[in-house]
Amino acid sequence: MADAVIGPLELAARVDEALAVQALAFGLSEEEIEVRRYIVLRHLLSPGARALGATTESGRLVGFVYGMPNDRTHWWSTVVEPYLRASGTDDWLDDSFVITELHVHPDFQGRGIGRSLITSLTDEAEQPRSILSAVDVESPARALYRSLGYTDLARRVVFPSAPSPYAVMGAPLPLRRAN
Ligand SMILES: CC(C)(COP(=O)(O)OP(=O)(O)OC[C@H]1O[C@@H](n2cnc3c(N)ncnc32)[C@H](O)[C@@H]1OP(=O)(O)O)[C@@H](O)C(=O)NCCC(=O)NCCS
Repeated sequence: MADAVIGPLELAARVDEALAVQALAFGLSEEEIEVRRYIVLRHLLSPGARALGATTESGRLVGFVYGMPNDRTHWWSTVVEPYLRASGTDDWLDDSFVITELHVHPDFQGRGIGRSLITSLTDEAEQPRSILSAVDVESPARALYRSLGYTDLARRVVFPSAPSPYAVMGAPLPLRRAN
């Protein structure tokens, strides 16, 4: 991998830089950035929440990932639970590490940074598996997750206020390595 180093990220202190990366990678309005800032800072108070960043030599943040052990009382979990229950996969909500966000600046995509971020974060998880949600379309994110061993647990999952449905995916840990 060129140009960026993966390492621990003090996400609470660098939340504005991280959201600027997410805004470019994923697309966020100014209003959504404000909402996300509040959500990220609250997430970081959860037991076991961890973040990694990809940083250039000059210290610029160009990618980040964060997640935490799943908690069935968290909002995300309560939204996906009925969908997973309907497909008989809701046991994935227990003993699972949730990937909450993964974003790489567009200028730095396609260099292995995203793969390295998610693999490094989940390698340190105590849980035997990982879950996440991704917009339910064919995308680089969905291709990456599949290549790491994530499979669909539920599809067409509707989050209130999200414009498009999501797929919920799960993978055993450690994540599969590329051949
Ligand atoms: C998803 C994302 C984080 C991947 O980061 P990245 O650093 O570009 O990914 P990598 O270079 O590590 O590539 C890993 C894999 O992703 C997939 N991938 C990456 N770019 C792709 C593209 N343009 N088309 C299809 N698959 C692609 C491939 O499976 C690739 O593996 P390969 O290199 O062995 O073929 C990045 O594309 C991104 O930030 N996207 C926008 C935000 C987003 O969708 N985040 C996820 C929210 S759920």
